[in-house]
Amino acid sequence: MTRRKEIEHYSAPPGFADNIVLETHGLRRRFDKFIAVDHLDISVKQGEVFGLLGPNGAGKSTVIKMLTTLLPPSDGRATLAGYDVTHQPENVRRCIGYVPQALSADGSLTGYENLLIFAKLYNIPSKRRERCIQDVLAFMGLQDVQHRLVRAYSGGMIRKLEIAQSILHQPQILFLDEPTVGLDPIARTAVWQLVQQLREEFGTTIFLTTHFLEEADNVCHRVAIMNQGKVIVTGAPIDLKASLNKDNATLDDVFIHYTGDQLISGVSYRETARNRRTAQRLG
Ligand SMILES: Nc1ncnc2c1ncn2[C@@H]1O[C@H](COP(=O)(O)OP(=O)(O)O)[C@@H](O)[C@H]1O
Ligand SMILES: [Mg+2]
Repeated sequence: MTRRKEIEHYSAPPGFADNIVLETHGLRRRFDKFIAVDHLDISVKQGEVFGLLGPNGAGKSTVIKMLTTLLPPSDGRATLAGYDVTHQPENVRRCIGYVPQALSADGSLTGYENLLIFAKLYNIPSKRRERCIQDVLAFMGLQDVQHRLVRAYSGGMIRKLEIAQSILHQPQILFLDEPTVGLDPIARTAVWQLVQQLREEFGTTIFLTTHFLEEADNVCHRVAIMNQGKVIVTGAPIDLKASLNKDNATLDDVFIHYTGDQLISGVSYRETARNRRTAQRLG
């Protein structure tokens, strides 16, 4: 049986406002009889980097799709910046940016052209568009390649462009679904640095998902570890690791501890994590 635990002696880093910008109560999503997300209760503070972590199939993308108004919840509710996802979807959409797990940039256009489409989509007035586009290009370090076709970009550059697209309208909350999947270690580090910079320079609240627990440990103020549709444990990585009373505990250890190392698709998480670490070491 899955043990549930809340570790809540989290203290906000200096400069954090204490207001909650994202909240869910009993959020649930069914696909026919299958429950993909089961009674999700989370709250995220303004300026926080919050990570929803878990193996493939845990339900992370389904949570993001409900929070970004793309998928209606089967039950429960969620509010973002005080707006309800079910009853006030337009208001919610104005406050958020979203980088989906799947590719969202058009390879047959240049980086600049992709940004122009999003600037129009977000109703950025024409006289401000150029300034906005150049500002995000500079922020992402993509100015020099802006007139190249995106199909010639590296995976890391495409990811940066997709993040650029999602922040043109300066959203209060940014959703990043698996932002580093498929990237090499250098590009992954670059993406995480951007995430930190976004929070520091603009105070953007960042809600991300990843199955790289180790990476989340470095960037997230708080994480919720999810498995088979349920959040198992929530807290600051440092507190979660300390709760194990084990030297050099990792978030992988936290996951294994709280799930009892359940079998996922026939392979235990412990085994998968070990194989991944070996694969990473071998390059
Ligand atoms: N549209 C859908 N129809 C049926 N099942 C779905 C649908 N979307 C997701 N699922 C199922 O819900 C579960 C969670 O999926 P997802 O949220 O994509 O997980 P994660 O992002 O954590 O990998 C998976 O078992 C997936 O197959
Ligand atoms: Mg996913």
